[in-house]
Amino acid sequence: MTIDKKFIDQFVNVTSKAAIASSYFVGKKDKIAADKAAVDSMRSELNNMDMIGQIVIGEGELDEAPMLYIGEKLGTKNGPELDIAVDPLEGTNFVANNLPGALSVIAIAEKDNLFKAPETYMEKISTKVQEKNVVDLDYSIKKNISNLSEYLNKKPENLTACILERPRHNKIIEELKDLKVKIKFITDGDVSGALLVTDEKYSVDIFLGTGGGPEGVLAASALDAFNCSFQGRFLFATDKDKERAKEMGISDLTKKYDLNEIIKGDSIFCATGITSGDLVSGIKIEKDKFISETLVTHKHSKLKKVVKINQKLL
Ligand code: FBP
Repeated sequence: MTIDKKFIDQFVNVTSKAAIASSYFVGKKDKIAADKAAVDSMRSELNNMDMIGQIVIGEGELDEAPMLYIGEKLGTKNGPELDIAVDPLEGTNFVANNLPGALSVIAIAEKDNLFKAPETYMEKISTKVQEKNVVDLDYSIKKNISNLSEYLNKKPENLTACILERPRHNKIIEELKDLKVKIKFITDGDVSGALLVTDEKYSVDIFLGTGGGPEGVLAASALDAFNCSFQGRFLFATDKDKERAKEMGISDLTKKYDLNEIIKGDSIFCATGITSGDLVSGIKIEKDKFISETLVTHKHSKLKKVVKINQKLL
């Protein structure tokens, strides 16, 4: 089974509209309003679509998120059953402070093919290398870099690793520095960070470190279409987190997940720029139109491209 190509444009429309809605709050120091605008727009557009959609990754549980909560059903109920993962505003700080890299993101798979990730941190690693045993979450930084260096035939000093700039990463950063690896630090937005391995033009050979679990699943969905690799392992800080994970069906809390355990079968991924970043430009206004750019992939048709669309000012 595959997801009908007609849905590609419809999902591009969903993230484009959410990005436009959020763009009104660029530089307004209001993360909550910016997120709410994206969520409201996304929900209303998804509800217009002919599908039986269910949120598997969203804004949280029903008690904390009245909209796009995990388990929420969306669509006209007249169409295929789809799993939907959303991050209507990825990079709330970026929008609040008018910084590069804010995105509106969605990933879709057929029912029961997208991992239901708990809202916890996840250790992640992505590279363009698909062969097993080259880069692995279980290896030391030194082993991963030495294997990658050999595999890509690039000296460690010519490799670039992308990582979120956080104190929790100090040890990894010191190790990378000792190995003379170049580091691309990102201050937020690790969906985008993980995707920088997809094209030589970004000059990133490996993405690693700990960020949001839901963001890991979203990144994995796109990496699958790019034939890149991804591994993730959830980190559970509290007993409540552990209980919740068990309720969600995760029995082995220390399990390392490979990409093909996170997303299976066909998928669509869309990420529209709100502010301009590495992957796509942000929302622009020209005359009476909004111009948006969306990175879109469709696994089955091997589609991977940036789509630019014009929409009349609302
Ligand atoms: P928000 O858009 O929800 O603010 O998330 C941004 C983000 O940088 C993610 O891309 C990343 O996975 C996560 O936050 C990292 O979390 P933390 O800021 O706690 O290190």
